[in-house]
Amino acid sequence: MKVTVIGAGAVGATCADNIALKELCNELVLLDIKEGIAEGKAQDMMQTATLLGFDTKITGSTNDYSKTAGSDVVVITSGLPRKPGMTREELIGVNTGIVKTVCENVLKHSPNAIIIVISNPMDTMTYLALQSTNLPKHRIIGMGGTLDSARFKYQLSQHLGCSPADLNAVVVGGHGDTTMIPLIRHATWNSTPVSRYLSTEQQEKIVKDTMVGGATLTALIGTSAWYAPGAAGAALVESILRDEKKLFTCCVSLEGEYGQKDICLGVPVIIGKNGWERILDFDLNESEKAAFQKSADAVRSMNDVLKTL
Ligand code: APR
Repeated sequence: MKVTVIGAGAVGATCADNIALKELCNELVLLDIKEGIAEGKAQDMMQTATLLGFDTKITGSTNDYSKTAGSDVVVITSGLPRKPGMTREELIGVNTGIVKTVCENVLKHSPNAIIIVISNPMDTMTYLALQSTNLPKHRIIGMGGTLDSARFKYQLSQHLGCSPADLNAVVVGGHGDTTMIPLIRHATWNSTPVSRYLSTEQQEKIVKDTMVGGATLTALIGTSAWYAPGAAGAALVESILRDEKKLFTCCVSLEGEYGQKDICLGVPVIIGKNGWERILDFDLNESEKAAFQKSADAVRSMNDVLKTL
């Protein structure tokens, strides 16, 4: 198995490191446009192989896509990260050009690859990848909801004093601070609704803190986060390459599901060897449906910006 990670910055390198540690593939390529950075980080990671005990062979490449040939999965992290006070949406201008070119180059050498999009604004970049490549929809996966759901579980676990691993909780909708929808009504702690253990005020705080989870970290660190985004990308790669059929929230092309068409948006999906394999139909109530529609409207107006670029 072969995996390529495009962008050897904070998120790309962390994602690659996780993939290697889990030995998800025998060949892993890190590619960046900036001279030497991918080669350097690949060597640095390879020097941990004997210490951490993995066999994955990691190589770096400065924009030479022939090195990525025959990849089964390609993770796209290239692009500008957020700075404090910026929204993910403000990255659209510069990241559109990057993601489009990257997709073209990737597919020249790996026509059968499944593509995972991490670059922001992620919902629009996923839609762009789908439109510009014309690939079968199951092969384009936006990572956002996987990260947001992990952040949701983190917030829940802090209030419940429990292991996040015992929680089932998903965030659907867009990957923006105001477009994501943490579905707290559906969240369970070992099959029991979390609402049984949390006051209304606590639930509201958990939802709010989840929604601004990325911005909170950007304010603290001075740039956007990378450990959880990188790990979320690697978890999707794992479910694909091991055909785990795990449930994640991912940004995928909707053709009538959840009442939406001609848009990529976060919904619960099964991830396996074919990419995203099916969408799970959660039973949304009227206010959740309204929130989903509002989220779709916001993402759609962001997608419209693509036409002007
Ligand atoms: N081809 C390949 N690599 C590129 C290209 C390109 N056309 N353009 C930029 N890059 C590389 C940069 O050289 C840089 O090394 O992408 C990398 C991005 O890394 P960082 O600046 O560290 O950003 P990071 O924090 O990793 O975030 C990357 O993920 O979470 C999102 O919002 C975030 O869109 C951002 C992306």
